Amino acid sequence: MGEKRVITVLGATGSQGGSVVRAIAADPTSGFVARAVTRNKGKAEELLALGIEVVEADLDDEASLRRAFDGAHGAFVVTNWWEPPTADSVWTSRTEREQGQAGNAARAAAATGLRHVIWSTLADTRPYLPDAPRQEAGYTVPHADGKAEANAFFLDAGVPTTFVTAPMYYESLFTFNAPRRAEDGTIVLAMPIGSAQVVSGTVDDIGRTVHAIFGRGDTLVGRTVPIASDLCAGEDFAAGIAEALGEPVRYVPVDPAALAHSGMPDAGEVANMFQYFINAEKDLTQIDFDWLRDLNPGLQPFGTWASANRDRFRALSL
Ligand SMILES: NC(=O)c1ccc[n+]([C@@H]2O[C@H](COP(=O)([O-])OP(=O)(O)OC[C@H]3O[C@@H](n4cnc5c(N)ncnc54)[C@H](OP(=O)(O)O)[C@@H]3O)[C@@H](O)[C@H]2O)c1
Repeated sequence: MGEKRVITVLGATGSQGGSVVRAIAADPTSGFVARAVTRNKGKAEELLALGIEVVEADLDDEASLRRAFDGAHGAFVVTNWWEPPTADSVWTSRTEREQGQAGNAARAAAATGLRHVIWSTLADTRPYLPDAPRQEAGYTVPHADGKAEANAFFLDAGVPTTFVTAPMYYESLFTFNAPRRAEDGTIVLAMPIGSAQVVSGTVDDIGRTVHAIFGRGDTLVGRTVPIASDLCAGEDFAAGIAEALGEPVRYVPVDPAALAHSGMPDAGEVANMFQYFINAEKDLTQIDFDWLRDLNPGLQPFGTWASANRDRFRALSL
């Protein structure tokens, strides 16, 4: 095999980028090698220990992105809307910052002649939430709507881009969406998704799918690939967790509107996101899983993943 082609991976110390780096490193037949990007190499000790090239760059600094992209074949670009703003932040909103970062990445990719960029975007929720309360900068779900608008930066810059949308991470069931023990002693999974099936997936499937898309050359340039491992309703999540815990778990649907008034940070945005999952269910669930499995044969249905992660569920203090 000839020399491996470099894929620069943004967010390499995080969930999505980390999974892309791991997927590339795990495949000895891969024609690619990862160049992991962090703002601070001190955060990337695990990657360095694996022998992975690590470079420092900042999405707010286009020149640093050009250096990180220089000589690479492609890049995986992910931005983190949720990153708290710093005191010296020049942005008026996190959406403006995220769009600025996507613009920097698109221009740097064009300037360095990248052959293939995979941009982790999300769909515009506004058509599905006509009456929802507006959030930051007038969007309904800023972290999604802003990314959808940012697709244009890659297209306008003429960058050969595949757009991927990430699913709701299964891993959120260990944190934000974790089950809890109710006062009556039973385990409850309370989620604001009504009876809707939600496009869900393990973070590992994001990396494996992205790696496979790079492997398809330019055949998926210009396409949007909805990454998913499974479609799960609340009852499906509860059943998988119950099997993993060896104890019944009861799904309790929560009204997204109630969440909006919960006082948690970004409650309005998160409530709108879940309402969007409900309102857009018919369109979002039109996913060709045979095609996705052809790309990534390791795709993990929720039940399989929950069993494999039994210990992590048991480690939750329930
Ligand atoms: N949670 C979900 O279910 C879900 C579903 C779909 C989409 N998403 C989207 O996923 C995105 C976050 O991705 P994630 O979950 O992989 O994040 P994460 O695990 O929180 O990690 C964030 C990553 O972003 C990097 N980063 C942040 N600011 C940066 C900057 N200015 N320059 C360079 N790198 C920067 C960090 O790198 P360093 O700190 O090492 O520099 C870190 O690697 C969000 O925008 C969210 O909307 C999440």
